[in-house]
Amino acid sequence: MNPEETTEVDVESDYQTDDAVAHDGNGSVAAENRPSARARRMEREDTFPIQGIDYVEFYVGNARQAAHYYRSAMGFSITAYAGPETKVRDRASYVLEQEKIRFVLTAPMGPDGEIANHVRKHSDGVKDIALRVPDVDYAYHTALERGAKGVYEPFNVESDKGRIRKAAIAACGDTIHTFINRDNYSGTFAPGYHRRELPGVPTGVKAIDHIVLNVELGKMNELVEYYARIMGFNQLISFEDKDISTEYSALMSKVMQDGTGRVKFPINEPAEGRKKSQIQEYLDFYGGPGAQHIALITGDILGTVSNLKRNGMEFLKVPHNYYEEVPTRIGQIKEDINQLEELGILIDRDDEGYLLQIFSKNVQDRPTLFYEIIERHGSRGFGKGNFRALFEAIEREQDLRGNL
Ligand SMILES: [Fe+2]
Repeated sequence: MNPEETTEVDVESDYQTDDAVAHDGNGSVAAENRPSARARRMEREDTFPIQGIDYVEFYVGNARQAAHYYRSAMGFSITAYAGPETKVRDRASYVLEQEKIRFVLTAPMGPDGEIANHVRKHSDGVKDIALRVPDVDYAYHTALERGAKGVYEPFNVESDKGRIRKAAIAACGDTIHTFINRDNYSGTFAPGYHRRELPGVPTGVKAIDHIVLNVELGKMNELVEYYARIMGFNQLISFEDKDISTEYSALMSKVMQDGTGRVKFPINEPAEGRKKSQIQEYLDFYGGPGAQHIALITGDILGTVSNLKRNGMEFLKVPHNYYEEVPTRIGQIKEDINQLEELGILIDRDDEGYLLQIFSKNVQDRPTLFYEIIERHGSRGFGKGNFRALFEAIEREQDLRGNL
């Protein structure tokens, strides 16, 4: 373990199970390592405070139908809408919420403009990972002083319910980070949006655990350095291509997190392999760098994945022999391995505990964005022990598409 790893804290620990905190041999938790003590120390040292991911906005071809998928398959409630009926002429946007997760699906109303161009180039994909900050002006100007590329300057969006302050900087490719503060606003999502009440049936996902970004060969360290310099992120873990390579497909990855560990962005680049890297396939079909997957945390992965599958969401499968090795590789866990195998859930263990995870198939026709469902039992890792089994599963899909 490298020294940076010990400074991490998981503020989503309310979604972790009872063994989520690392215990010492006597069954007590060392005071210095308690999440709250670490969180306070990290907050004191944080020069770029971020309060969390406020929302993720996707640009899509047909937001009405996409919203139906997120509601009926993934269990989100549609809570707000903006479009021609609310006097927004150029787009239709649906706000979807489930526990702490908020997504906005936006489609263009015509063939021209920024949204239509984004969809033409990328198909459906993540446009904006919006970060809630205590002071938008400070965040924007500090980021620009440190070399960030501005997308738009701070401005107010106002209604009779108050005002939201926003600004945005570039993230990677066409993906941006909006900085947003809603302390002086009490209305529905944002001015221009009307309340909608179309509840979904919750599937058990609680919050965003991490969002993975894919960049071109040789660009990983550039983006790692960008997050470190601009927003004071630190590096949590690095994976070399020897960790994450199969016979064919290889990649390199570094995990960046903000000063308090609330926001985590693993950053991948393709590595040379015998055949095309899965990251290169993403880049080719997305038309450049962008968000590869969004990991949603749950406290009950068996229930959540059962719900999602019943609703028609599809997941990658690993072969039976993966589960034969689990008892020796992982040791004792609470869950029944047969039940995990039935659903295709993967298991990994590190010094601090274990995690359960599963990866969806791509949620649009292009092999670009997909979802991960993750349950953590102490482990703050990303499932390194599963990379081989997982990537072989991804390669089988890639091969079916003729892209290997
Ligand atoms: Fe992940």
